Amino acid sequence: MSNVQDSAEPLSVSPGSESPASDNIVRAEGHISVADRAERFGHGGRTVWFTGLSGSGKSTLAFAVEQELHRRRAASYVLDGDNIRFGLNRDLGFSPEDRTENIRRIGEVCRLFHDAGLIALTAFVSPYRADRDAVRALHSPGQFFEVFVDTPLEVCEQRDVKGLYAKARAGEIPDFTGISAPYEPPLEPELQIDTSRPLAECVELIVATLLQN
Ligand code: ADX
Repeated sequence: MSNVQDSAEPLSVSPGSESPASDNIVRAEGHISVADRAERFGHGGRTVWFTGLSGSGKSTLAFAVEQELHRRRAASYVLDGDNIRFGLNRDLGFSPEDRTENIRRIGEVCRLFHDAGLIALTAFVSPYRADRDAVRALHSPGQFFEVFVDTPLEVCEQRDVKGLYAKARAGEIPDFTGISAPYEPPLEPELQIDTSRPLAECVELIVATLLQN
């Protein structure tokens, strides 16, 4: 492990730029460098951001990529929209403001994962381009991979795994993405996934792209 005193390596790759609510907050610094963490895990911190409609296959893909990365001994973890809404973000609903706050908080969690040298795989509808771009801006170039899970609405609705599209069409769920709330597709995602292809092929493509960087 490198000696921090002699090391030119930053201790933190993403210290945060926003001011805290009080002036009386002072940063604390640890003793482990970015290089130390990369040496431990065999890779640096990365964020793979899956975005797409509900039922597009984001979670399935993210968990499959996690499994493959684990097999290759990489340290990764899935932050899943539905799961996070049981805990950290259980106070948030689906208004535009709440969705923005949902993505802002997860962006900050990704920043922490990144600092810890881990690979964060996120599965959130994240319908607003500006919210996704704000998360991208927390990362250095080449460390954030936006993956557009490009499953057409008709296919998601036909699958309707959770029965939510039927409810939304019946007017039982307000502000449902794709039905009564917008989805802004990425303009220049690092990857665009056609989920009519076999899952293993999609996973291979994502992992290969990640390994190239
Ligand atoms: S996001 O828009 O804020 O990014 P998030 O990914 O956390 O959404 O949660 C989306 C999941 O919540 C969907 O997969 C679906 O299961 C469920 N859900 C419940 N209500 C809605 C809604 N109004 N719009 C979209 N998804 C909803």
